[in-house]
Amino acid sequence: MPARINPSILAADFVNMERDLDRIASADLVHVDVMDNHFVPNLTLGAPVVAALRASTALPLDCHLMIDDPDRWAVEFVQAGAANVTFHAEAAGDVVQTARSIRAAGARAGLAVKPGTDVEPYFDVLGEFDMLLVMTVEPGFGGQEFLRDMMPKVAQARRFLRDTGSALWIQVDGGVDADTIEECARAGADVFVAGSAVYGAADPAAAVEALRAHASAAVSAR
Ligand code: DX5
Ligand code: ZN
Repeated sequence: MPARINPSILAADFVNMERDLDRIASADLVHVDVMDNHFVPNLTLGAPVVAALRASTALPLDCHLMIDDPDRWAVEFVQAGAANVTFHAEAAGDVVQTARSIRAAGARAGLAVKPGTDVEPYFDVLGEFDMLLVMTVEPGFGGQEFLRDMMPKVAQARRFLRDTGSALWIQVDGGVDADTIEECARAGADVFVAGSAVYGAADPAAAVEALRAHASAAVSAR
């Protein structure tokens, strides 16, 4: 199982986005943080911007919806060109129906949980999903400190997936950098979001390669 690195463009230069997308050509997917100033205090971008991003990069788009009522909005992001749409368990009315609508529209479906939300109550619906996102910061802002306490949650999910023979991806998001990525990989993550660690580096493409090398070693050792 390869380690996937998804740089978060929240840390990119929004005025020079095409250039900053080119700088991460070695990435696996582009992580796009959608915030609505309701589910989280911050406000970022919506489906029209996702469509513009789609036209500006060959990389698949990994949309992370931090919005209220994803049941209503998720499919718009598929139509805008997202390859993956992840929504928050805490915000959704019907997680199964929303996952099915994302898949029916042609994208992978992801389920995200905030640091205070347990994963176990969602184990029985994970078959409806392609990815589980375990947040390693409180969603809303880039550049926050990594929450190491989330590692047991990642490990618990990885055990469940292993026991059930599931190929679901486990993503971690928040505070992931060269110092923290290996423990995420050891705990069971295989998709890694990194904003500051990629765009804060002098050479973002080299940062992606370095993160992948760190993570791949730990993924194959587990
Ligand atoms: C936080 C976002 C993250 C954020 C990560 O709510 O979901 O994707 O961009 O940024 P870093 O890697 O700087 O913690
Ligand atoms: Zn995110």
